[in-house]
Amino acid sequence: MTRVLLVHPQFPQPEIIAQAAAEIQRGGLVAFPTETVYGLGANALDAAAVARIFEAKGRPADDPLIVHLASADDLPQVTRSLPSIALELARSFWPGALTLILPRGAAVSLSVTAGLETTAVRVPAHPVALALLRAAGVPIAAPSANRFGRASPTTAQHVLSDLGGRIDLLLDGGPATIGVESTVLDVTRTPPVILRPGGVAREVLEALIGAVALRGEAGPVSAPTPQISPGLLDKHYAPRAELILCASPTPASTLEKMGQLARKFLEEGKKVGLLIADQDRQFFAGLPALIFPLGPADDLAQVARNLFAGMRKLDEQGAEVILARGFGRQGLGLAIDDRLRRAASRVVE
Ligand code: TXA
Ligand code: MG
Repeated sequence: MTRVLLVHPQFPQPEIIAQAAAEIQRGGLVAFPTETVYGLGANALDAAAVARIFEAKGRPADDPLIVHLASADDLPQVTRSLPSIALELARSFWPGALTLILPRGAAVSLSVTAGLETTAVRVPAHPVALALLRAAGVPIAAPSANRFGRASPTTAQHVLSDLGGRIDLLLDGGPATIGVESTVLDVTRTPPVILRPGGVAREVLEALIGAVALRGEAGPVSAPTPQISPGLLDKHYAPRAELILCASPTPASTLEKMGQLARKFLEEGKKVGLLIADQDRQFFAGLPALIFPLGPADDLAQVARNLFAGMRKLDEQGAEVILARGFGRQGLGLAIDDRLRRAASRVVE
């Protein structure tokens, strides 16, 4: 049985937070809203509780978790040393959608880090997440609260549909505001390496600390990374339907390609879903397809916020093929592009 408690997203009620904190302290699993996506939390210092996270998600044990803190002041609890660049980043971006890879402190269970000598750490900005962390008084290990390989949850409904009955408590604090996960930045390397693009854009990091490498990207600032991050598995964040990403050089050629593919699949009798920008609606008017507009193409914050909900919605509506358009790789576009590519079984350029 999963208890669901409604909580005010801005001013979380202390008596509700106290129940969730008690659940964490007794080794339970609590799903809670963060500004990026919903997290599935357990006491990061309790190996048995952490093991339950992997079980509930169906997540392989070699995928490390992010440790969440109430404040950067708690860093000494979870890391044995702090590169100076980490402090600078923490000061500028915490609380917020940036996860730092740091040398692991002895108190963090190796089951959290999947045996690695580094640990991922983040101070979330969501008032509910912060209140829970403060009340629990322990660091909370929390991956995204979805079944492994599925799209991350941006609403409590998404969490229930993936994990209902498998977790103790769900705090429903409304939809996540950013909608894609945090940027994972490895600051144990020089230059730092983005292992997973996310809510804090590469350009924004570079404005503060200079060149930042992107995992897998060739070029003078690219750096190899030793371990696989599960967010970086080729197939991840996937809807059940086959997803095809259409990312031609121009918006016009992308729409042309999507239209061709949509007509081909419709002729084959397939149920087709379209993940598009608001202004593309006109182009597909009259086509008997399921349509999910993600927002204006130049409002990437809105597109990011709606992305996972769109994948889930088209799945629910029974789409057999989902055609998604690309939104470029500037700013939040990089994270959107990353999630679409991982969800896609093929990319049409
Ligand atoms: O926004 C987020 O980051 C959300 C919310 C709940 O905070 N959490 C999240 O966790 O997305 P998860 O487990 O779905 O993704 C964690 C990512 C994975 O790609 C994992 O490989 C990487 O962080 N990671 C964790 N520890 C790591 C480590 N020590 N070294 C390299 N990558 C690590
Ligand atoms: Mg995840």
